[in-house]
Amino acid sequence: MIRINENYLKLQASYLFSTIARRINEYQMQHPDKEIIKLGIGDATRALPKACIEAFHTAVDEMAADATFRGYGPEQGYPFLREKIAENDFYSKKVDISEDEIFISDGAKCDTGNFQEIFATDITIAVPDPVYPVYVDTNVMAGRTGEFKNSRYQKIVYLECTEDNNYLPDLPEKPVDLIYLCFPNNPTGATISKGALVKWVDYAREHKSLILFDAAYEAFIRDESLPHSIYEVDGAKEVAVEFRSFSKTAGFTGTRCAFTVVPKECMAHDASGNQHSLHSLWNRRHSTKFNGVSYPVQRAAEAVYSKEGKEQVTNIISGYMKNADRIRQEMDDLGFSYAGGMNSPYIWINAKMDSWDFFDMLLKNAGVVCTPGAGFGTCGNQYIRLSAFNSFENIEKAMNRIKDSVKK
Ligand code: MLT
Repeated sequence: MIRINENYLKLQASYLFSTIARRINEYQMQHPDKEIIKLGIGDATRALPKACIEAFHTAVDEMAADATFRGYGPEQGYPFLREKIAENDFYSKKVDISEDEIFISDGAKCDTGNFQEIFATDITIAVPDPVYPVYVDTNVMAGRTGEFKNSRYQKIVYLECTEDNNYLPDLPEKPVDLIYLCFPNNPTGATISKGALVKWVDYAREHKSLILFDAAYEAFIRDESLPHSIYEVDGAKEVAVEFRSFSKTAGFTGTRCAFTVVPKECMAHDASGNQHSLHSLWNRRHSTKFNGVSYPVQRAAEAVYSKEGKEQVTNIISGYMKNADRIRQEMDDLGFSYAGGMNSPYIWINAKMDSWDFFDMLLKNAGVVCTPGAGFGTCGNQYIRLSAFNSFENIEKAMNRIKDSVKK
């Protein structure tokens, strides 16, 4: 008899963004003429940078001739891309990460979801609340979380992020083994200073824990005092894995390319307390289950680091941040309190009412899609998230419509 992994039955109905997409589709079917502006899922709307497109085309042409055709590439990614990442994202910023510590993949969602596979099922995990649901759901599937009761999984340590602590989680009160951190944060848009990050690295070193640091939104940082990488903190290479993505930075949400940094110093332990290299374990997992990102996509990602690519990416990000500024200005005018939007494409707004009711109200009255905060955890019950990923014209239109519907 074929049997299921019953941990899947502990999952909540469906993945947050699938639920939202279904609700939008249902609404659109009932109101086919209504123009809906989507500020829900953080999906890039601007075209890929021209430099990436040119590199993409050239690489596709290479695939069209036997002499330049490429079959399977290295599972860890082509050296040309890993070297560019090491040089531009780390070495030139005085962060010591070498190219063979970088694993190219098809997305930070997959990597942040998959990384937990290499740990024991009885470790304790800590996640912020609100949190990107992938961290939680993948641990539920693995059987690490216990039952869902009173809106929470019983074995997860939730680190509450609220207005009172500026959306910065406090250190766990009891020791935990695996800690998920995301800065700039999804969904709150909050940032962390280097000093605050030092405390987490010290905590992890003291407790032999590991930090999974999601830095998918680092390119949106405007405040030069803020760290872009956890490895800016001394000692972090021993206790942290970092996830980055070309998705939001360069519009690769549909094209798919990201990378994960697993430093060689980073260790975990077996039941007898012996150390094992996470770099080796992840390499083993990655080469068994993944066959690499396609050659043209890796060439397109490499072009992000060309002179033109860098200028074009800066321009794209400035455009999204102009949108974020416009959203913040409207929220100020309407008297909503919010976080984020300064160094992040997300604005986390205190709706002062049930977040799904606010979602329905905005969709019905303004034709604007937000993400209800409840989908990110109980601390999000009265919040909504607006994303700055759209055209400025649509943001302007959406803000005017929100103003009209909220003032009614
Ligand atoms: C989000 O809107 O939170 C993200 O776009 C989801 C993702 O990156 O998977």
